Amino acid sequence: MNGVALWRRLADFPAAPPPAFPAAADPAQPDPAMVEELAYRDRLARATEASATCWFDVPGGRPVLAPIERAGITRLVESISGSTAGDKIDAMIETMAHAPDGDVVEIGAWRGRSAALLVLLARHWNIGKVLCVDPWLAAACDQGSEPAGRPAAPERMDADWAHRIFQINLAPIAGGALNFIRAPSSVAAQAYVPGLVVETEAFGRTAYEGAIAYLHVDGNHAYEQALIDARAWTPHVKPGGWIVFDDYARPSGDGPRRVGDEFLVAEAHRISLSFVIGAALFVRLKTA
Ligand SMILES: C[S@@+](CC[C@H](N)C(=O)[O-])C[C@H]1O[C@@H](n2cnc3c(N)ncnc32)[C@H](O)[C@@H]1O
Repeated sequence: MNGVALWRRLADFPAAPPPAFPAAADPAQPDPAMVEELAYRDRLARATEASATCWFDVPGGRPVLAPIERAGITRLVESISGSTAGDKIDAMIETMAHAPDGDVVEIGAWRGRSAALLVLLARHWNIGKVLCVDPWLAAACDQGSEPAGRPAAPERMDADWAHRIFQINLAPIAGGALNFIRAPSSVAAQAYVPGLVVETEAFGRTAYEGAIAYLHVDGNHAYEQALIDARAWTPHVKPGGWIVFDDYARPSGDGPRRVGDEFLVAEAHRISLSFVIGAALFVRLKTA
C-alpha cells in the first residue's frame, strides 16, 4: 500500500479524541512511576547493605562494588529469567571479587541469567573471559525430579529458543568477554586446553587461558550428571579459584549435595574455605 492510499484509509475513520495525557489516575491505584521508584529505592538500599556486609573472612580482594554499581548489575541480571537470585547473587559477587585472574566457566547457562552476572563482573574487574557450556537440548533438562503432575522437562521446554534467548540477553553485554560451547559438559571439557579459541556468530572470537579462576556448576542436577560435570571441570580450577555447586541445599533432588560433599572430602587437601549461601556451596581452593 502506498502512502496516499494509506492516508485515504486513515481518513475514512472518524476522528478519534486525543488520548488523555497524563492518563487519568485511579486514586485507588498507586502511581506506577512511584511504584517503580520505590523498587529502585529498595534495590539500592539492599545493595548498600550487601556492599557493607562482610560475607566471609578472606583477606585481599578486588575493590568493593559501589552500591550504585551493585544495584545496576543486579537489576540487569534479574531482568533475565532464571533461578540465580537473592543471597546467591551477592555471594557470587563477593567470591568473584576474591578470584584470581583466569577463565570464568559456567556449566549450564539456559537463558543466561547467571552468565550475565558472571560476564558483568568479569568485565568490571578484568578477571578473564567467560565460557558458557550447555547443550541447550530439552532432553538434557530431565533431572528425574519433576514434581508430581508437572510435564517432564523435555515436553515443556524449547531449548533452541532458550539458546536464542541466551544470545539475545548476552549479546549487548558480552563486550568480547564471553562465548559458548553448545555441547554437554563432558564433550566441551575435551576441547578445554590452554589456547582454546571459541568463535560464534553472536559473540565473535574469544581466546581462553585454559585455566579456571571461577567455576559455576549449574547443569543437570541429577547425581550422575553433576558428578560428570565436577570430574570434568574441577581439575582445571587454579589455586585460589572458586567452585560453586548450585542447588547444593535444595529440598528436591540430592545430586548437587552428594557431589559437593564428595568433593569436599576427596579434595580437602586443596580446599581453603567452603560455605553455603543461597542454597549454593561455595568452595575456595588454596592459593598454593
Ligand atoms: C538450571 S539451568 C541453568 C540456569 C542458569 N545457570 C541460570 O542462572 O539461569 C540448567 C542448565 O543445564 C543445562 N545442562 C543440562 N545438561 C548439561 C550438560 N551435560 N552439560 C552442560 N549443561 C547442561 C541445561 O540445558 C540447562 O540450560
